[in-house]
Amino acid sequence: MRIDPWGSSQYQDYARLRDEFGIEPFTEDHLEGFPDPPALLRRGVVFGHRGFGLVRDAVRGGDPWGVMTGLMPSGRMHFGHKMVIDQVIYYQQKCGADVHIGIADFEAYATRGLSIEKARKLAIEEYVKTYLALGLTPDKGEIYFQTTRSRVKDLAYEAGLKVNLSEMRAIYGFDDSTSLAHINAPLIQAGDILHIQREEFGGPRPTLVPVGVDQDPHIRLTRGIAQSLRLYSVKKTEDGRHGVFLKTGDAWKDKEKALLDAAEATLKKLGFADLERNDPYRAIYVKGASSRDLTQIDLALAKTEPRRGGHGFVPPSSSYHRFLTGLDGGKMSSSRENSAIFLSDDLEDAKKKIGRAKTGGRQSAEEQRRLGADPDACSIYEMYLYHLMDSDQELLEYYKGCKSGELLCGQCKGRAKDLIEVKLGGLQERKAAVTDAEIKEVLSED
Ligand code: TRP
Repeated sequence: MRIDPWGSSQYQDYARLRDEFGIEPFTEDHLEGFPDPPALLRRGVVFGHRGFGLVRDAVRGGDPWGVMTGLMPSGRMHFGHKMVIDQVIYYQQKCGADVHIGIADFEAYATRGLSIEKARKLAIEEYVKTYLALGLTPDKGEIYFQTTRSRVKDLAYEAGLKVNLSEMRAIYGFDDSTSLAHINAPLIQAGDILHIQREEFGGPRPTLVPVGVDQDPHIRLTRGIAQSLRLYSVKKTEDGRHGVFLKTGDAWKDKEKALLDAAEATLKKLGFADLERNDPYRAIYVKGASSRDLTQIDLALAKTEPRRGGHGFVPPSSSYHRFLTGLDGGKMSSSRENSAIFLSDDLEDAKKKIGRAKTGGRQSAEEQRRLGADPDACSIYEMYLYHLMDSDQELLEYYKGCKSGELLCGQCKGRAKDLIEVKLGGLQERKAAVTDAEIKEVLSED
């Protein structure tokens, strides 16, 4: 099984995806200490993660952390696209994160055949304006273009030193006909994700990339690259000892002692006194450390790397949300008008789409009253769950009403139309009021 970030698969079995790729389950425990978690996090829409513990610790401890995500400007923005930005804005407003959003104009050029100019224009009209209307602020928040940020491109180049073609083939299924620009796209994305840990963007710290699960191959690749670019690795050895190891190459030979001295000092400062240093092995063993301690040691050492000539990239954490099913029961897609409600849809059209949407209802009202319907197979219920219904109480009532047969589809869709009118109408009004000055303020020139 392979996840193709540029493909059009519709994922159904998220538990299987998790098992197959070693994604951790995302549960309520992860949200302890998070103020007012939004529906997407509360209701199991975000179903998996890698390394979210680092983020949780940062939020709880009030420590600096960052959120990074990217947007591919390929078509009109619909409710499926709204999920990432809803989370990003929550983390910015309530959880102390600084936010960086990359416009994937390189990727759109390489993989979708869009000109850079067109990709940028689309990104601003469709996405940037909507993000501002939804509440993204330039205070600890920025949006930039992949094509103009040289730090991203430089890091992509450097990341290329750490990956070979056979790994790229194994992860992405690239073949002899894949263009080099396309092969480069994941490295650019690694540059996106990692560059926010450079000093000028906030330095080494926990970072989170909230994405759909189709992006997991990029996350796996990037976490590997982050690690290969480190000066130190902190880990448990095969014989069960915990230690700090130098992983620098020959070019660093004459700095090894200084690096070990520095690591020793950091460990002592953290309160680890029982150390066994082995210079020929380029190792310092830490006695009595737990696996949680290892994370703390790794973070502390990462922060020291930039002044010693390293990057100090902390492995980026990720979270994965489920995909919204299309209103027609297929995949929600910008290229099929009736599969999605677009954020720029005329309100009357949006309501018509709701009217036509596939539900979990029965053939006839009589049958539905008698047997009940299936909210778990209903695109309208999904819209409630992901976007439209803020109250968990009301959501539960609709769920039960549907299952029992008390609530019929027409009535239920009526409520959805009212909610769409309020939510989408409000968003469109705010979007129309976004000014060029606001766009300029959030959009970075380089
Ligand atoms: N590849 C992403 C998409 O297709 C866009 C993207 C580019 C991205 N850079 C990123 C996502 C960095 C997350 C982090 O939508």
